[in-house]
Amino acid sequence: MSTPQVVVITGASAGIARATAQAFGRRGAKVGLLARGQAGLDGAKADVERAGGQALAIPTDVADYHQVEAAAAAVEDAFGPIDIWVNVAFTSVFAPFTQITPDEFKRVTEVSYLGFVYGTHVALTRMTRRGHGTIVQVGSALGSRSIPLQSAYCGAKHAINGFTSSIRTELLHEKSRVRITVVQMPAVNTPQFSWVLSRLPNHPQPVPPIYQPEVAARGVLYAADHPGRKQYWVGASTVGTIFANKFAAPLLDRYLARTGYKSQQTSDKVSADRPNNLWEPVDGGDGHDHGAHGVFDAKAHSSAPQLWFSHHAGLATGAAMAGAGLAVTLAIRALRT
Ligand SMILES: NC(=O)c1ccc[n+]([C@@H]2O[C@H](COP(=O)([O-])OP(=O)(O)OC[C@H]3O[C@@H](n4cnc5c(N)ncnc54)[C@H](OP(=O)(O)O)[C@@H]3O)[C@@H](O)[C@H]2O)c1
Repeated sequence: MSTPQVVVITGASAGIARATAQAFGRRGAKVGLLARGQAGLDGAKADVERAGGQALAIPTDVADYHQVEAAAAAVEDAFGPIDIWVNVAFTSVFAPFTQITPDEFKRVTEVSYLGFVYGTHVALTRMTRRGHGTIVQVGSALGSRSIPLQSAYCGAKHAINGFTSSIRTELLHEKSRVRITVVQMPAVNTPQFSWVLSRLPNHPQPVPPIYQPEVAARGVLYAADHPGRKQYWVGASTVGTIFANKFAAPLLDRYLARTGYKSQQTSDKVSADRPNNLWEPVDGGDGHDHGAHGVFDAKAHSSAPQLWFSHHAGLATGAAMAGAGLAVTLAIRALRT
């Protein structure tokens, strides 16, 4: 029997990271779970152990480098050298840019961008010493194509692509066997839409098509197993968005200006002072474990046929070109109506 992998996942108390932890648990992996909320961390630990893995839950704010470093050391003390590090933790503010305070913008950047930088730093210093290991960044289609009401988030997601490419070139230069790759995600049904700080009048929603977090987790595990590629795209909507933006960005600007406010909200009003996770975890107060899924189960897809193409590179290019053509056509048609 092969030795269980040692995996660290940031943001593991909920959403995509929580589903990813479960999936690694099913492989019998030893999983370090980093996030802040105790109820979510306890739930994630139970998930991994029930699935057949081992877990160590470490309350960590990823915006604090020293906490991330201490968590990495604790995982290695308990489980041995880290094989795979997955950066996922994030937060955001849903609001027009001028309604986001400078402190809020800074906090989103510290969690959603610098959290990835710190995770990558503590993982890479260990991995390059040993000439072994893989880092997977959970990215977004919005790291290539910005949308309204998410300026801090889109900035962070673009920045992750930028700094990861730089590191990749350094690893290639050094002929290192350590790998770093990005998995660009589509809209996923996770708790974020119920707990991110929002100044929108209605309940935030992911822009359809929406996928279940288990689909995203499958993409992460595939990338961790095949980390030679610069990036992977999950979901046909991710493919269409990235390609359409390459060829028709100004058209998409106008399309999103017109549709992006409405498409990111349901018709349900939401309280302006609902609890949010920007500074503190939401499960801290009432001890509620939010789990992997959000409130959009009825609308979310449990599979993404495009994943097969994504994992078979040659065919993926053809599919991507077709997606781009379709997206450009739709954007142009929408602008004309
Ligand atoms: N859902 C989507 O539609 C979508 C689309 C594209 C890309 N993505 C990407 O997928 C990743 C996960 O998104 P998600 O939708 O699963 O988010 P989510 O449901 O909001 O979960 C975010 C996780 O990050 C943790 N977190 C937040 N602030 C933290 C901090 N300061 N320190 C440590 N952990 C923190 C949260 O736990 P605590 O509050 O307990 O700390 C939670 O476990 C993100 O990188 C996002 O960019 C998501």
